[in-house]
Amino acid sequence: MKRSAPARRARPAGLRELADLARAARLQAFAPFSRFKVGAALRTRTGEVVTGCNIESASYGLTMCAERVAVFKAVSEGLREFDAIAVVADSPRPTAPCGACRQVMWELAGDIWVEIVNLHGRTRTLRLSELLPLPFDARNL
Ligand code: THU
Repeated sequence: MKRSAPARRARPAGLRELADLARAARLQAFAPFSRFKVGAALRTRTGEVVTGCNIESASYGLTMCAERVAVFKAVSEGLREFDAIAVVADSPRPTAPCGACRQVMWELAGDIWVEIVNLHGRTRTLRLSELLPLPFDARNL
């Protein structure tokens, strides 16, 4: 018997508005070294939004991406349950989160929707599990 594909949860409402908040957060980026500004907006399951932008260091390696700033801000405020993050950057193709951010988002936010958008409005919507298909996490320990 042919198996049907696993049910995909329907794309939630409001991702365009979430991307607008990420676009605004991008303007706060501190990126004097790369000049590549990124904004993120992380949404809880109850609709609260926490934003982040990338913050660079002259030592380069201490730079923090917009996504992790948003996640750490949210967790530090006691927020724990998330459903989506939007990420906005000025790149020809929408910028996907780096590997470190995928790991941190997986562990702290779970299998959220990831909306990546460039300044021309080009958009892709993915699940975090598509970006990090075989994760290492607490279940491995
Ligand atoms: N960056 C982010 O903030 N998020 C991403 O998804 C990709 C990269 C930042 C880190 C650094 O400040 C700049 O973009 C260039 O890598």
